[in-house]
Amino acid sequence: QTIYLSDYKAPAFLVDQVDLCFELFEDGARVHSTLSMRQNPESGSGAPLELHGDSLKLEFLALNGTPLLAGAYQDEGDKLVIPEVPAEFELAVVTWIEPQNNTRLEGLYKSSGMFCTQCEAEGFRCITYYPDRPDVMARFRTRVEADKSAYPVLLSNGNPVEQGDLDNGRHFVTWEDPFPKPAYLFALVAGDLLEKRDTFSTCSGRNIELRMYVEPRNSEKCEYAMDALKRSMRWDEEVYGREYDLDIFMIVAVDDFNMGAMENKGLNIFNSSCVLASQDTATDAAFQRIEAIVAHEYFHNWSGNRVTCRDWFQLSLKEGFTVFRDSQFSADMGSPTVKRIEDVTLLRTAQFAEDAGPMAHPIRPASYMEITNFYTLTIYEKGAEVVRMIHNLLGEELFRKGSDLYFERHDGQAVTTDDFVRAMEDASGRDLSQFRLWYEQAGTPVVAVTDDYDESRGVYRLTIRQSIPNTPGQTDKKPQHIPFAIGLLNSAGDPLPLNLNAEERNGPLERVLELTETEHSVEFHGLPERPVPSLLRDFSAPVRVQYPWTREQLLFLMSHDPDGFNRWDAGQRLAVDVIQSLLGAPDDAAVEPRLVEAYRHLLNDIELDQALVAKMLLLPSEAYLVELSDQADVPAIHDAREQVMKHLAHALRDELVACYQRNLDQGDYQLSSEAIARRSLRNIALAWLLHIDDEQALALAGEQFDNADNMTDRLGALRALVNSGFEHERNQALAAFYQRFSEDPQVVELWFSVQASSDRAGQLPQIQQLLQHPAFDWKNPNKVRSVVGAFAGQNLAAFHSPDGSGYQFLAEQVCRLDDSNPQIAARLVSPLTRWKKFAPHYCEQMKAALERIRDKSELSRDVYEVVHKSLAD
Ligand code: ARG
Ligand code: ZN
Repeated sequence: QTIYLSDYKAPAFLVDQVDLCFELFEDGARVHSTLSMRQNPESGSGAPLELHGDSLKLEFLALNGTPLLAGAYQDEGDKLVIPEVPAEFELAVVTWIEPQNNTRLEGLYKSSGMFCTQCEAEGFRCITYYPDRPDVMARFRTRVEADKSAYPVLLSNGNPVEQGDLDNGRHFVTWEDPFPKPAYLFALVAGDLLEKRDTFSTCSGRNIELRMYVEPRNSEKCEYAMDALKRSMRWDEEVYGREYDLDIFMIVAVDDFNMGAMENKGLNIFNSSCVLASQDTATDAAFQRIEAIVAHEYFHNWSGNRVTCRDWFQLSLKEGFTVFRDSQFSADMGSPTVKRIEDVTLLRTAQFAEDAGPMAHPIRPASYMEITNFYTLTIYEKGAEVVRMIHNLLGEELFRKGSDLYFERHDGQAVTTDDFVRAMEDASGRDLSQFRLWYEQAGTPVVAVTDDYDESRGVYRLTIRQSIPNTPGQTDKKPQHIPFAIGLLNSAGDPLPLNLNAEERNGPLERVLELTETEHSVEFHGLPERPVPSLLRDFSAPVRVQYPWTREQLLFLMSHDPDGFNRWDAGQRLAVDVIQSLLGAPDDAAVEPRLVEAYRHLLNDIELDQALVAKMLLLPSEAYLVELSDQADVPAIHDAREQVMKHLAHALRDELVACYQRNLDQGDYQLSSEAIARRSLRNIALAWLLHIDDEQALALAGEQFDNADNMTDRLGALRALVNSGFEHERNQALAAFYQRFSEDPQVVELWFSVQASSDRAGQLPQIQQLLQHPAFDWKNPNKVRSVVGAFAGQNLAAFHSPDGSGYQFLAEQVCRLDDSNPQIAARLVSPLTRWKKFAPHYCEQMKAALERIRDKSELSRDVYEVVHKSLAD
């Protein structure tokens, strides 16, 4: 049941052309498929023809026009085997499927009355029998037939080539995609959808029709995504030289979707929450997420579609590269430092945790049971970090040369991560052989740094040791090639030249050390005093840095490091240190006064980029504090963090009120970085003040809640009230908010998650109530995520309740979802998988919850893999 990369074999048969016809009905769909196939000249002849299939009813099968009788093929459940076929042939298949009953949301399914598809990774086999693997690429022609009044819009990949009316009020549209593609990029949509049109003129002067299709009620929520699409198209031309290739590009929004979005050729399908937005209904964070995801899916047209993956072990080939590309794009559209902080926060909080747990895997895994479990932070985010390191090692220009070579060499092919690295090597002349270990070895490298200063010689020496922890199935790892960016500061806060020997005079102010050995030692010369090191600037590699910083040094870096990322990071390290030192301490234990002064300074600093100030004011999350500890006692971590936050809020009360007032908006709502920073600052101030039940802040929050002209402020006020002790006002605001937005599913999801992620409004009995709420829907993944996911993933103190009730609750919900949507069920297990990380009392109960899931009858392969690997570790 485990699939190994080492077993890879080229496909025995290729498909040149696929002709599909979908007859869509209310009680099911009939799919006619005609495949023009031939033996793969690169693999031996004589192999039987094997087609994948899942939950299909086979109605008809014919080879070169002759129907195949029962004995001429075998239906093996997940496979259809035809033992004897000629070297070249045409296979006709008719299947019957039931999209209206498809709750897994893989293949063809229905979402609020419309038909839509999700075929990555292996959904196409739920539509028809097919060699459903990415290295089989074919041209698709797709005819869709449906009732004309219920489904006036019929879409598929490529360009529309024919349409017309049929009997019984039905109609059809035929689409042709000229680019050969793997089946996972196939898409179909049929529904009563509103069309938004725009155009884009490419760098070579071609005119592209841009279309968005949404439910009519979402008519006013398309503009931002459409603009983001045009920005993405322009950016990919300018930065990567990539031009769009079809005459039309379409985006569809659907409410029920397992993931964020999907890059189907010419027909991207999005989770509504990742594409629809308006000033009234979307937060600044949502706008930014939408811009990033629209760009991500668009960029896949080259990094994913024109050049695709040979097999699913290569998933990071397209995902790592595309996440890197979308992060560069977001950095260019806004503040690079803030974008970097956000990416690293996610990486360090969640990906490092994954890489240290039972599901740890290299960005190119060697084996898997269920591929949908491998759409992970490791494949995506660490994968992007690995591409970023190549970018930094090669520099802008050579990296672009490498990317050009990659696209040129592999256009129209299904390739491997190794092909990507080779293109980078060939274009740059650099040897990346040791660097390739990043693709093979799992686990987050630890880089431990010590230093000493020789006053008599003016020499400062750094000793740097790397080690990579063991991960399931991998021990004794080899040292990796780590780009380690550093700088040195003198006591005045000025950057010092990094002179590598006594003769060098004006060395650069920053160097990227290339660590390749287990231990390195580097000397810097000509230093009249002991410098303060600024390590791993801009987070130049996805590693954990250990260095015995003093609080004095961290405070110093917080206000002097010219690297914005490291300024923020110094503040985080200081806050972590202060919180950790209070673990288990009495309520009245003293909080480090220098932390208070540092925050006071930040709150008053109107010179520094205000977006960076807003990031620096956020205390490290509970999840990050858990990630940094052994035998975590979550309630104790929660209490210590609360204590620090409350202490800061009391001590800085007046500054917070002033910060709030200073950042009130004059004039109209804007989405500029500057306006976003102001909203962010005033909402942080409000949240802190309400955390200590400040009466003046209560009035400010009430006012902001009632009069906000945008969702960031309205939700900011609601969240602050929900997390305050003002129970009456909290309930009033929650009721008013729901009443106002009950017709808008995306806003209702925000309303659910604000409660489920709050330890004040989201204790287990309240969570149970949310599940009973009429707007809650087990079939809608966003609703499940906004209640169950938010509770287990963001409301740590409530989830890790000492009586184990949170764990049992999660186990129950996983078992319930396992039958209807195994992909979502498997994702929800994740908070339990790291059971070994928690204090014994918690750890045992988490294990028991996992065992309970393990013992459910007919467990899906998705959940089976996660639970068994977690318990085996
Ligand atoms: N390729 C999509 C993206 O990253 C994600 C699709 C995930 N699908 C899945 N079944 N896990 O944009
Ligand atoms: Zn992607």
